[in-house]
Amino acid sequence: MTENKRVLTGITTTGTPHLGNYVGAIKPAIAASHDPKTESFYFLADYHALVKCEEPGRVAQSTLEIAATWLALGLDTTRSVFYRQSDIPEIPELTWLLSCVTAKGLMNRAHAYKAAVADNEAVGEDPDLGINLGLFSYPVLMAADILMFNAHTVPVGRDQLQHLEMARDIAQRFNHRYGDHFVSPEGQVDDHVATLPGTDGRKMSKSYDNTIPLWLSEKPLRKAIMRIKTNSQEPGEPKDPDQSSVFAIYCAFATPTQRDAMRVAYADGIGWGDVKQQLFELINSELSEPRARFEELMAKPSYVEEILVEGGDRARALSKPFMEALREAVGIRKLG
Ligand code: TRP
Repeated sequence: MTENKRVLTGITTTGTPHLGNYVGAIKPAIAASHDPKTESFYFLADYHALVKCEEPGRVAQSTLEIAATWLALGLDTTRSVFYRQSDIPEIPELTWLLSCVTAKGLMNRAHAYKAAVADNEAVGEDPDLGINLGLFSYPVLMAADILMFNAHTVPVGRDQLQHLEMARDIAQRFNHRYGDHFVSPEGQVDDHVATLPGTDGRKMSKSYDNTIPLWLSEKPLRKAIMRIKTNSQEPGEPKDPDQSSVFAIYCAFATPTQRDAMRVAYADGIGWGDVKQQLFELINSELSEPRARFEELMAKPSYVEEILVEGGDRARALSKPFMEALREAVGIRKLG
């Protein structure tokens, strides 16, 4: 086992990255991967995507877009292990071993599953309507992702902390029955990065349809920023930056000096159009270079594929021998 801290996280490949993903997850993860004391594992959770997405084209496109996004933003794939979940056959294999030590009752308590049941009951439907086993056992697959590489730290959104608790519970049961194989992973929710508001002021999220896609080209990006909701105060009226989504988004990109200057501008009554223009310029200056790299990568999918395959090979150098030991431990062995 490794001496370094091992950090691992997965990204479900169902959508197009937006500014909230960038600020809240991608940027801090890439920054963390530069710490020489950590080994980072980042992967595309395409098996997880199948739980909620039935459109093959969309899963494939999202996989390419997310991979190209991380590469365009400077993920160093020689230092971190960057791979696709489905390139690691030991993950579904481990999922089965873990399923056999996981209490069904534990899965009954998973928030996502419970919410789906509650939605059905609320409208008087069969509680299981439209719920597949993938959704039900989602946390076991996620535990396999994490335990396969004995990750210590798992950066996630707050909504995923329950899955980390479950992963620890499952690891413990396995260790108790078969010996000490897994480390106990901890979820890490970053409280420094504020959740980015979307265009309607609520948290930026695909489910609210209020996102600004990360890779809009200049004109549509400017347009999207101009559509962010504000109050109806006129230019010249002093404005409260702490009540403004435009300011909150600005802060996620600004230096402390820029932020302070913007506070002063609000107090001095800067108009909403000007505030948005400045936000556009700030975001655009940060994203224009990576955007060009992103577009190049999207035009060379076979290059992106190659990088993922290489990452998969590096991940398998660990998962293959580990899986052999786990099979041995549970009694799946060569005879004689
Ligand atoms: N369930 C996570 C999400 O929706 C994605 C994910 C899958 C993941 N496997 C993981 C995150 C393993 C961390 C570790 O955000």
